[in-house]
Amino acid sequence: MSTHPQPNPIPEPVPQLDLSAQYAEIGAEIRTAVERVMASQQFVLGREGAALEEEIAQLCGVAHGVGVASGTDALILALRACGVQPGDEVLLPPFTFVATGSAVSALGAKPVFADIRPETYNIDPAQLERRVTPRTRAIIVVHLYGLAADMDPILAFAKSRNLPVIEDNAQAIGASYKGRRTGSLGDAACISFYPTKNLGAYGDAGMVVSNSAEIAARIRTLRNHGQAAKYLSSEPGWNSRLDEMQAAILRVKLRHLSRWQRARRSNAAEYTRLFSQVPGVMPPIEPEGCEHVFYQYTIRIEQRDALQRHLAARKIGCAVYYPCPLHLQPLYASLGHRDGDFPHSERAAQEVLSLPMYPELRKEQIARVVEAVTEFITHCIINK
Ligand SMILES: Cc1ncc(COP(=O)(O)O)c(C=O)c1O
Repeated sequence: MSTHPQPNPIPEPVPQLDLSAQYAEIGAEIRTAVERVMASQQFVLGREGAALEEEIAQLCGVAHGVGVASGTDALILALRACGVQPGDEVLLPPFTFVATGSAVSALGAKPVFADIRPETYNIDPAQLERRVTPRTRAIIVVHLYGLAADMDPILAFAKSRNLPVIEDNAQAIGASYKGRRTGSLGDAACISFYPTKNLGAYGDAGMVVSNSAEIAARIRTLRNHGQAAKYLSSEPGWNSRLDEMQAAILRVKLRHLSRWQRARRSNAAEYTRLFSQVPGVMPPIEPEGCEHVFYQYTIRIEQRDALQRHLAARKIGCAVYYPCPLHLQPLYASLGHRDGDFPHSERAAQEVLSLPMYPELRKEQIARVVEAVTEFITHCIINK
């Protein structure tokens, strides 16, 4: 037998997201559901979609769900149903995925940004007063990374100005704020079932949920060419219907969602426990009364880009959501914003890093990620 020391085996990559681990677990159930749709030969606006609408509304604790083609369409349709028209202003945070802003722009309305709180990455209610104008017609709050925005002061402000609040709940299905689920807090909420989301379809899909029968009915009409009755259109709409195949797949996954969310929370707790020993890293917080669903586990560190390279070299997946806040996007150059306008969003864009996070992530993988971050801090920062 050789006496030479064996080289360490190359560690397995840790992906930032591993959807195949989930498919390995539920593949048989998914195939049965898809087969059921095939056998029914009903592909659009059928029983699966109607059942999913009820199930998602129930999960969010609201009366109505209306399935649509994507989270982006959900935002556009919810804004329209809340009365936003060309030329109106809509308040929203600049630190979000571009869809939050482009939904406003798609209606010919103007996004007006209000900075975030640096510790939660969500819109700062105190900034709304500074940014509101007589032309403001609605507020969009984003529950970023799976954590609810601080809704009480936002709702109080909205009420005082008689403004509807739309929740961009693309990233936070199942999260809660003071005992109420996100999706039930504003006038309407928009869900994305994009495949990487906590409840992800196998293609594009979305939903608007609301307690308002009026908003739900309007969106039902708008998603289907403005047809209030068959072949009778009352206003311009388009085709934004949720298809039966996606609905059937989502219904299967919905049965597993609360267990997956517990696993995400347990993984997040493990990361945070290990990071408590590591200087220079700010783990995500969970404010009192909030239940975070950890769509992303996002840390903050000044040397973010160097850390990202360090992790990539060790085959540890990580990602920056989002490197350029909306007010600095070329898309919004015409709004005339500059560096420094929304400092908390700009700094977050430079410092956030989302680490591997999914229900199937194992504790030893988490330990490996934290070890690699610690190694970076020790060698590249402390011993520099
Ligand atoms: C915050 C946010 N808003 C809106 C969207 C748009 O959703 P979709 O990709 O389903 O159109 C997403 C998802 O990508 C998102 O993360």
